[in-house]
Amino acid sequence: MKDNNTQILIVDLGSQYTQIIRRSLQYLGFHSIILPPEESLKWIKENNPKALILSGGSASVYDVDAPKLSEELLKLDIPILGICYGMQWLAYIHDKNSIAKVLKGKSYGPVEISLGESKIFANLPEKLNAWSSHGDSVKSAPANFIVTATSKGGSVIEGIECEEKKLYAVQFHPEVEQTEDENIILNNFMNICECKKDYDKKYVINEIRENTKKLLGKGTAIIGVSGGVDSTTLAAILAPVLGGQLKAFMIDTGGMRKGEIEKVKELAKKAHINLEVINKYKNKFIENVGRSIDAEEKRTHFRSIYGEVFKEVAQSYGATYMIQGTLATDLIESGSTGESAMIKTHHNVDLDLGLKEIMPLSDYFKFEVREFAHEFGLDELVSQRQPFPGPGLYLRVVGVPVTAELLEIIREADYEVTEILKKHNLYDKISQIIVALLGINTVGVKGDGRVYGYSFVVRTVETTDFMTVKGFYLPKEVCEEIISTLVKHPKIVRVFFDFTSKPPATTEFE
Ligand code: XMP
Repeated sequence: MKDNNTQILIVDLGSQYTQIIRRSLQYLGFHSIILPPEESLKWIKENNPKALILSGGSASVYDVDAPKLSEELLKLDIPILGICYGMQWLAYIHDKNSIAKVLKGKSYGPVEISLGESKIFANLPEKLNAWSSHGDSVKSAPANFIVTATSKGGSVIEGIECEEKKLYAVQFHPEVEQTEDENIILNNFMNICECKKDYDKKYVINEIRENTKKLLGKGTAIIGVSGGVDSTTLAAILAPVLGGQLKAFMIDTGGMRKGEIEKVKELAKKAHINLEVINKYKNKFIENVGRSIDAEEKRTHFRSIYGEVFKEVAQSYGATYMIQGTLATDLIESGSTGESAMIKTHHNVDLDLGLKEIMPLSDYFKFEVREFAHEFGLDELVSQRQPFPGPGLYLRVVGVPVTAELLEIIREADYEVTEILKKHNLYDKISQIIVALLGINTVGVKGDGRVYGYSFVVRTVETTDFMTVKGFYLPKEVCEEIISTLVKHPKIVRVFFDFTSKPPATTEFE
C-alpha cells in the first residue's frame, strides 16, 4: 500500500495502549498509522517513513509465539522508539543476554523514573512520575547502547539508547496520561525524526469513512440519529460516502424536549442526511417505561423497547449492520471496556440485536467529535448543545410512573427554564440543565384553595467530562423567575434547586 503522506509507523506488538500512542501523536499534531509486525517491513520499504515506534505488548521475547519483527528494520536508518516490549525487543536483538525473564508477578503501576541526559528527555525534569506495566525487563544495556533512565535507586533500567543509530527505548509508557510528561517524550522523538506536523481533522474524517466503508462492504446499515452531537456528527461524516447504504432515522420515543424533532430535522437537512422520523412507537415506550418507578428498571424497559424498535426498523430497511455513535467515554462508563465499574445502563451500548455493530467513534472523546461537527458547519446547533440522555425526559419523572401527561408537563417546564437561562445569558455557562418532576406531592395554596400538587427540581451543573460535576449556583433573581414561571402551572406547587456535586450525586436523578 503506497501512502505518500504518512511519516510515522507504529508497529503494534500487542499493547492495549497502541491506539493511545496514535491519539497522543494526533494531539501533538502528527498523523501516524498502526500496522502489525508482519506487514510493517513491506510498508516501510514502500513508504520510507521518518519515524518508527514499536509499541508495548504482553509477550516475552522468549515466547515462541512472540510477535515477529524483522531485524531488517534496524538496517533502514530510520529512528526507532521502542516502548516497553518494544524496548525489550530492541535490547534482545542486539544482545541475547540482555533480558531478565520475569519469574513471578508483573510490575504494574506508577513508578518514579530518574531521567539521564538524552535528547528524548529534553525539556523534562530529572524525576518523572510514569506508568509502567511489564513482566520481563532489560538487565543490561547491549554494546553501543547507554542507559538513559532508571528507577528504584538505579537498580531497574527504564531507558536505553544508541544515539549513533537513533535507537531510543523506554520501559514505561510515555503515551498514557498517567505518565506525567505531557507527551514531551513523544514530541522529542518527533523532533529527532524531523517529522512535520501534518495532522488534520479532515484526515481523521477520511479515515473514519474509509474504515467504516471497509467494515460495511456491500451491506446496508442503520444509524439512529438522536440530534445529539455524536450520532448527528457521525451521520454527517458517513452520509456522503455511504449513500443509500446508510439509513438514518430518528425514533420519536415520547421523551424528547420541546421542538426537538423539528430541530433535528433541520440539522439533518443542513448536514445532507436523509433522515426518516418514525413516531409510531411513542405509546409503546410510555406504556413500558411507565411500568416501573425504579431507575434501573426504567432504563432496562426503555432499552429493551429501543432494541425491539431498532430491530423492526432494520428489518424494514433490509439492514444487517448498525452504526453507533458510541464514544470512548460511553464504553468506559458502561463497563464495556477494561475493569471500570458499571455505573449506569446505557440505552444503546452492547444491544444484542442480531445486527453487526460498527462504532466508528469508539476511539474518540467528546471534544474531538465537537471538532468534527465544526468541520460540517454544525457548531451552533450541535456542538454547543447540552447533552441529553437517550431515555430523555423519562429519566426526569422521578418516583412516580411516567405518563404522557407528566411527560408533557416536564417538556414544557424544561422549555421554560431553558428560555429563562438563555435570556439571562447563563445557558452557555451551564454544562447541563435538568428539570425533573419529583414524585412527592406537597400541599400548596393557589388562588383561594388548597392544592396538593407536583414538586419540581431544577439542577444546573458545570463540568468538562461528566465524570465529575459541580453545581452551577443560580443567582437569586433567576431562581425567583424560574419559581414564578413554573408555579403558574395549576398542578405545580413547589420548586427546589439542586447544586449537589457528582460524586456523590450523579448528573441525572436516575
Ligand atoms: P450521570 O447521571 O451518569 O450522567 O452523571 C452523565 C452524562 O450522561 C448522560 N446520561 C445518559 N446518556 N443514556 C445517554 O445517552 C443514558 O442512559 C444516560 N444517563 C446519563 C447525562 O445526561 C449526563 O450528560
